[in-house]
Order: sequence, then C-alpha cells, then structure tokens
Amino acid sequence: MTFQLSEQQMTSKPELYENLVSQLRSLLAGERDFIANAANFASLLYHSLPDLNWAGFYLLKDEELVLGPFQGKPACVRIAMGKGVCGVAAAQRETIIVANVHEFPGHIACDSASNSEIVVPLQKDGRLLGVLDVDSPQFGRFDEEDAEGLNVLVAAFVEWQEGLGS
Ligand code: SME
Repeated sequence: MTFQLSEQQMTSKPELYENLVSQLRSLLAGERDFIANAANFASLLYHSLPDLNWAGFYLLKDEELVLGPFQGKPACVRIAMGKGVCGVAAAQRETIIVANVHEFPGHIACDSASNSEIVVPLQKDGRLLGVLDVDSPQFGRFDEEDAEGLNVLVAAFVEWQEGLGS
C-alpha cells in the first residue's frame, strides 16, 4: 500500500513510518515531560497517518487504563483491564489489530466514526505503562506494517523516557 504525500511523491508505509521515527525523535529531543511528549506523539500520528479519527494514549493507573493525551473527539476516560480492545491489549501485553471493531466482543465505542483500530502496549523494563490506541473510519485500515511501524515508534518513545534520568 502506498500513501500520497504530494502529487509528485509517493511513499510506502515502511518509508512513512521510518520518516515518522525521525520526526518523533526531533519532537522528543530536549524535553523530559512524559505528558508533553505523549501529546506531541499523538498529534504527530494523527496528522501524519492517513484516514484516522482518533490517536492517543490510555495510561495505567491503579490497575485501570485512564485517558491520556490524544487527538480526536472526546473519549471514554476509564477502561478496565481486559475490557475493550485497549483493555485486552493491555492485559495480554500484545499489539491487537481489529479490522472491524463492530465484530470485536466488548469493543468500547467512543466515536461512532471508528470502524477499525490498532492498540499497542507501552512497556518499560517489563512494566506496563499503558497503551497507544489508533482508530480509523476505514474498515481494515491497519495491517502488519502498521503494527511494526507503530511498535518501532512506541519503542523509541519509551526508550527516550527511560533515558530521562529515571
Ligand atoms: N475503542 C476502544 C476504546 C477507546 S476509543 O476507541 C478512543 C476500545 O475498545 O478499547
């Protein structure tokens, strides 16, 4: 699959994600605040990946996922572990791609425009920090290339947080 950057230039998904890793590293450079960095990460994804209606974080607090920085319409604030796509990805600590959210048992519909979704867990030194959740109005929007690209981005994000005097 290719994305049109301009009329002259086409880029593949892996190239797009490679470019996003560079942009993310530039955004994070010199900043230590987790929320600020997560907010810019969500904005970068929302404005760079085509066909999204939501991109953001749910952060683990007291065994519950709580809404973090995001771009898109207002969303549900708390998700229990094991509930919805986010809760299942968090509980299993695995990336989950859902081609049709309406067929996912227990899917939590925050924005009725969402038809597909990908959720990537955030982990640091074996500890679950939360999840990155990305939604699309397009059915089957996310594939293994997205999973790989988003995992690389999340790893770069978490690695940077680890390097910040923790
Ligand atoms: N659909 C998610 C809930 C979060 S919103 O999509 C932003 C889920 O089922 O976990």
